[in-house]
Amino acid sequence: MWLPCGCTSKYVASSFARRTLASYLHVSGRSRCNVAAFMPEAAGLEGVSGRAALRELSVSNSESFWAAVARHRLCWSTPFHTVQDCDLSRGKIKWFEGGKLNVSVNCLDRHVHTCPERVALIWERDERGSEMKYTYGELLEMTCRLGNLLRRHGVKRGDCVTIYMPTCPLAVASMLACARIGAAHNVVFAGFSADALAERIRDAQSSTVITVNQGVRGGKVTELKKTVDTAMQSCPTVKQVFVAMRTDNPVTMTARDIAMEEVREQKANQILEIQIQAVEGEFGIFEQITKRRKITVTHEMLKEDVVCEPAVMNSEDVLFLLYTSGSTGKPKGLVHTQAGYLLYAALTHRYVFSYHDGDVFGCVADIGWITGHSYVVYGPLANGATTVLFESTPIYPDPGRYWDMVERLKINQFYGAPTAIRLLLKYGDQWVNKYDRSTLKTLGSVGEPINTEAWEWYHRVVGDGRCPVVDTWWQTETGGICIAPRPSDPDAEIVPGMAMRPFFGINPVLMDTEGEVLTSNNTSGALCMAQPWPGMARTIHNNHQRFIDTYFQPYPGYFFTGDGAYRSEEGYYQITGRLDDVINVSGHRIGTAEIEDVVNQCPAVAESAVVGYTHSIKGQGVYAFVVLKKGIDVQEADLSRQLNGMVSEKIAKYASPDFIQFAKRLPKTRSGKIMRRVLRKVVESDLEGLGDLSTLDDPAAVQEIIQGHEKLL
Ligand code: PRX
Repeated sequence: MWLPCGCTSKYVASSFARRTLASYLHVSGRSRCNVAAFMPEAAGLEGVSGRAALRELSVSNSESFWAAVARHRLCWSTPFHTVQDCDLSRGKIKWFEGGKLNVSVNCLDRHVHTCPERVALIWERDERGSEMKYTYGELLEMTCRLGNLLRRHGVKRGDCVTIYMPTCPLAVASMLACARIGAAHNVVFAGFSADALAERIRDAQSSTVITVNQGVRGGKVTELKKTVDTAMQSCPTVKQVFVAMRTDNPVTMTARDIAMEEVREQKANQILEIQIQAVEGEFGIFEQITKRRKITVTHEMLKEDVVCEPAVMNSEDVLFLLYTSGSTGKPKGLVHTQAGYLLYAALTHRYVFSYHDGDVFGCVADIGWITGHSYVVYGPLANGATTVLFESTPIYPDPGRYWDMVERLKINQFYGAPTAIRLLLKYGDQWVNKYDRSTLKTLGSVGEPINTEAWEWYHRVVGDGRCPVVDTWWQTETGGICIAPRPSDPDAEIVPGMAMRPFFGINPVLMDTEGEVLTSNNTSGALCMAQPWPGMARTIHNNHQRFIDTYFQPYPGYFFTGDGAYRSEEGYYQITGRLDDVINVSGHRIGTAEIEDVVNQCPAVAESAVVGYTHSIKGQGVYAFVVLKKGIDVQEADLSRQLNGMVSEKIAKYASPDFIQFAKRLPKTRSGKIMRRVLRKVVESDLEGLGDLSTLDDPAAVQEIIQGHEKLL
């Protein structure tokens, strides 16, 4: 369905203002060669024979590779003049400079041209069996209306809009509406507390928020608008909050709040005029779509403005910020830009999952995380796919929810997290076997290591032993999948629990503790990337120095991922876990320092140390050691409850400690640094592995900690 070269004259984006249409019609020339059969994007690369050669070229001559792919895969209004201008030693990353495009046009308009009735979104609502489908035409309309709404309320190119919504079509349209008018979005996971939301709004300097009255998940209602109201108490710069209705329950509205529906009513007359003008236009396809709609539209829809001129964006303009945890207390707003991010999300979506036109892609991640951004929204929509928006939980109303959905929606690729697989495995095979899963072709795993038992069950029971399981490694920072079992060859060998092979253009290296590259196989080290790729984050919002310090300073000239990895004899990669103080709870990344910051705010607490421990379902759980101030006399159970409440309130429920151990003191070095390595070993009950304790200030502290831990279990 990709526009072949020569089709450009027929390309019309339905909601473009006429005069901008022509400027979006650049598609490069193509020449035939033998890679075209499996990667049409690379067809411009003459003389490359076979997948292995293409993979090789994507690293050895990455500029040619990415230039060919970018020309083919994206729709540009102005072609780029410079493929890349990167210097990893300075954290400088720029791709496709000179190029101009609009991300929403790439995700919507070009598909509306070829197949307006193709389903873009299937909203798998919390209420089972009540799914709703939205065609590309409908999603474009929704996006344009929202784009106009934001513009009319003063949102300008370069502004940042915070989206605090559950996974739903309006949230996707909000993201795309921002992209359409050139605003950046900042999606905040709807499970985050008011404090966490406020911190992200302030750091992003957002003056506009979009939310819903209430969320619904697992049969429970969450008061999202109320959470926004609380956040607003510490966000004086927010001028407006748009409120959509997910449930019928009214919420208190303040002077700052704008009910989305009412605003649309006010503009009805003006919008009607625009639509009539459009019908009189000269573009064949545009006319047909609008005329057909004229016949079928309801009165309500006629009030809406369906034409929203897309902003012409530079490749390196900001597309979105997304906050994630680091090893220090403050979450960092990673910045992704337009062209490189979209290209990388689209390409990985297509090749890692063997996505084919017409497939239904079911990624069950929340849009509040990078997986939701790249593989619920941008990758699938750029490829014209039908993408599923999953609003519920894996066990609501019962543990068959995912597989019932697979049967009902005829899902072809299912992409989920190991934590959910581990949970479902415990409920037994009958919940899977009840449903027809014959449509499934590929199963994906993301966010944390998948243990062998979960991998085997996913493969054998869910996939009936016939669907490849792709264990995909990547990060918020990488924008898209970097290491995965089958980035190019749908028949390649897969070893359970291994992310396996780097994607096109990805050049992973392992470093030893001295900062030297480990060249041999069958070795472990710090996972770094030796070359830039278009999908990588460009900076940390408002803090480029932190970006450099975190990712480029530890191994100069390389991007440091923060993860450790093992490379097998065959050269396959397996992720061994974080090397910093970041833990992964149910696939949610959280810095231990963030939790400590909250715990230390309790007046009774002198100091604390938080570490992760292995948890059979969540992957990792949170274990907090707490030292009280002298003379404090409280019931430990009461204080534990208080501390748990504080963490839930200030961060999110998932960050709340599973164990709180009160201790007289923490093991420290003579220079006063807490020896977290020792604490980690204690909570893992690996006393043999305590290692060198010679730098300890007071060895008795370790004995006390061990005894306290044994008492707690
Ligand atoms: O430690 C790695 C782990 O998740 C981290 C990235 O978290 P986040 O930015 O929230 O993105 C999650 C979704 C991409 C990584 O540094 N991780 C991610 N995927 C895997 C993984 N660990 C092991 N295996 C994976 N497949």
